[in-house]
Amino acid sequence: MKFFIDTADIKEIKDLAATGMVDGVTTNPSLAAKSGKKFVDLIAEICAVVPGPVSAEVTALDHETMMKEAAVLRKIAKNVTIKVPLTPDGLKTCKALSNDGCMVNVTLCFSPAQALLAAKAGASFISPFVGRLDDIGADGMALIQDICTIYKAYSFKTEVLVASIRGPQHVVAAAKMGAHVSTMPPSTLRQMFNHPLTDKGLKAFMDDWAKTGQSII
Ligand code: G3P
Repeated sequence: MKFFIDTADIKEIKDLAATGMVDGVTTNPSLAAKSGKKFVDLIAEICAVVPGPVSAEVTALDHETMMKEAAVLRKIAKNVTIKVPLTPDGLKTCKALSNDGCMVNVTLCFSPAQALLAAKAGASFISPFVGRLDDIGADGMALIQDICTIYKAYSFKTEVLVASIRGPQHVVAAAKMGAHVSTMPPSTLRQMFNHPLTDKGLKAFMDDWAKTGQSII
């Protein structure tokens, strides 16, 4: 499974990229607004740190303007992935960009039917939002299972990019279902390293080692 981080915070991206665990980055207009930076500069900065796919979302709602925005964003770096919303205009844009060899991430997916449309539109990635479904009392992970089943049945090339992740439990559940990518907040990736028994065991090993008075180097 590939790990993307869902943030526009360049300091977090640099810190986590150094762990070797970051395969890509996803951003959205809300995260971009929070960064306070000029969008084009922000995406260029992220692309210079992470060589994998970096999702940059269009902000127009109509196909023609989406195409114009995508043309600007694609020029930033070769790893820019154009993110489009799951609307008729978004999917029309997805099809046109995919036919032109551009990676496209279709976002704001909340149903298997929407995921099927995105795959038929040639999306490189579909982004189902599990946390936001859980927030309204629905079952986010059931959506991932449905999409994985459908995509496998037809050998669609579209990768399932699990988004709106709330914690390591979502990542593990998605991995068990065979989803291709998890995009997670930096805090979730950090949490994945932790276990109290690792800390406890390491302390015991270090205490015992100190008693030997030895040094390996
Ligand atoms: O970037 C898309 C998605 O991951 C948003 O997550 O936490 O705002 O529901 P969230």
